[in-house]
Amino acid sequence: MDVFQKHVFVCTTGKICPTQGSVEVCDALRKEISERGLKKQIRINKSGCFDQCGNGPVIVVYPESTWYAHVEPSDCKEIVESHLIGGKPVEKLLYDGKGRIV
Ligand code: FES
Repeated sequence: MDVFQKHVFVCTTGKICPTQGSVEVCDALRKEISERGLKKQIRINKSGCFDQCGNGPVIVVYPESTWYAHVEPSDCKEIVESHLIGGKPVEKLLYDGKGRIV
């Protein structure tokens, strides 16, 4: 059985991120992955709190451990195409534990 090439965790069960739209972000990422037939290569997982509350929706991509903050559903197509498929992180959304980097 193949293993996933990338894992995306979306904080959907913390106390804050769901109030900022993280469930919709998770749904949008899953839709983009499904539409491209990549469900066997890229996994979108719901997650609990990352202790980064207030910066949500927060997501993190593994294995490279790339963090994104304040992600909107409208950002998901770019995250999938640029980062998850193309290997180029979306710089405007990057997060370093204090805030967005750019
Ligand atoms: S609720 Fe999402 S990081 Fe804490």
